[in-house]
Amino acid sequence: MNKNKIFVACDSNNIDKIKRIIRDSKSDKIFTGYKFGLEFINSKNGRKFISNLKNEIIFGDYKIHDIPNTCAATIKSVRDLKFNYITIHISSGLNALKAAKKFSGKTKLVGVTILTSLDNDALKEIGFNKDVKRLVLHQAKLARKANLDAIVCSAQEVKIVKKIFKKEIITPGIRFNSTANDQKRTLTPKQAYRNGADWLVIGRNITKGNVKKNIKKLIDHLNQ
Ligand code: C5P
Repeated sequence: MNKNKIFVACDSNNIDKIKRIIRDSKSDKIFTGYKFGLEFINSKNGRKFISNLKNEIIFGDYKIHDIPNTCAATIKSVRDLKFNYITIHISSGLNALKAAKKFSGKTKLVGVTILTSLDNDALKEIGFNKDVKRLVLHQAKLARKANLDAIVCSAQEVKIVKKIFKKEIITPGIRFNSTANDQKRTLTPKQAYRNGADWLVIGRNITKGNVKKNIKKLIDHLNQ
């Protein structure tokens, strides 16, 4: 049977902590990749650390959101890190997505839909007049048009996204305890896989406290 796949969100600016997270999250029951976001990538030694990582699936969560020329240039400027996945906000626009895709090469370009920390009220506040589900579906169509390689959405939208986007679906906002923190659209790992997610992104539920125990908790939850 195929192993369940997760990206552990390596959200810290402390290299020793990140080394511990990587070491302690490995398990033969689950397939683990590592996601580096703005906090780590922009830390003093973060970039260098990533450039020395070998034999890992690595995800650069840059969440690029800019004009086409800058999106493309950013993709080029991190090419040396050989990320397996890099994120760009779909709301950068179709031209920006296409421009970035031209230079992403073997790196999978991942379109980020509406952040899992936003709900319908927050969307209204920003000035959008579609609800989350409609907007995510709309953005999935743009991702398909731009020939992106994967999509990030909440596990709550996977079923609708799957209808029109046939490549990989990656879902953050995963919780296997009751604390949502700043996330608004959450589901449990089991629910997310059941909905059809290919990869889950899990941060604090794994990285806070004892990482080995948290991984065991995740595996037990999936086996229940
Ligand atoms: O700690 P938690 O599991 O909430 O972390 C989720 C991770 O996924 C964070 O690194 C966050 O930046 C990222 N992410 C997200 N929602 C998105 C895209 C990425 O939470 N839509």
